[in-house]
Amino acid sequence: MTNERFDRDSWERRWAHVLRESPEKVARRQPNPLLLEEVGDMRPGLALDAGCGHGSEAIWLATSGWRVTAVDFSATALDFGRTTADAAGSDVADRIEWLEADLGTWTPAPGRYDLVSCLYVHVAGSVVEMVRRLGAGVAPGGMLLLVGHRPIHPATGAPTPAAGQVQVSVDEAVEALDPHEWDIVVAKERPRAAVGTGVDAVVRAVRRG
Ligand SMILES: C[S@@+](CC[C@H](N)C(=O)[O-])C[C@H]1O[C@@H](n2cnc3c(N)ncnc32)[C@H](O)[C@@H]1O
Repeated sequence: MTNERFDRDSWERRWAHVLRESPEKVARRQPNPLLLEEVGDMRPGLALDAGCGHGSEAIWLATSGWRVTAVDFSATALDFGRTTADAAGSDVADRIEWLEADLGTWTPAPGRYDLVSCLYVHVAGSVVEMVRRLGAGVAPGGMLLLVGHRPIHPATGAPTPAAGQVQVSVDEAVEALDPHEWDIVVAKERPRAAVGTGVDAVVRAVRRG
């Protein structure tokens, strides 16, 4: 088991190390296929990428015509994303606002976004509270997409690369979303492609208009 805290300093150290050791590898990372699968058919609008990291998803969204607010508390990751977007050209870069903020407290403007996506973020406080806070940023008719990596492999009981973290689970996400306000379209656990990495919780919900 890890004693890592997964706070801002720990993520800064991780990103500084990864981007020093293998920046080209990170730059080649493709956007998460779950995002493409769940969002690919949507008409582009305003998106929030909460915990954007290296920025592949924010850049893919901008390339697909979305305007994006990309939030992370790692300044190093944000700098990398911004530089990668700049290299893609001003039509992509100008569509993304890179915002340094702590998702433990940061609150989106109510009803602002057509899409709020939060992929693989460690939650320091209550998952239910964070899902509600981010969900409040979704516009009527808009989508909330949450993906969490389970820290323990459910079939083997072995720790996964997310060991020690608290990420979104299907049960907590469903508990957080008021059924009078949300249609839950997807709520499932899905095996990850890499051996030994266990499962992801995937929740897609649409806010009623
Ligand atoms: C595992 S990475 C995932 C990055 C990206 N969403 C992806 O799917 O590739 C988790 C990201 O969340 C960020 N993060 C974790 N906790 C955060 C918090 N409380 N506030 C803002 N960003 C946070 C980290 O800096 C890191 O970039």
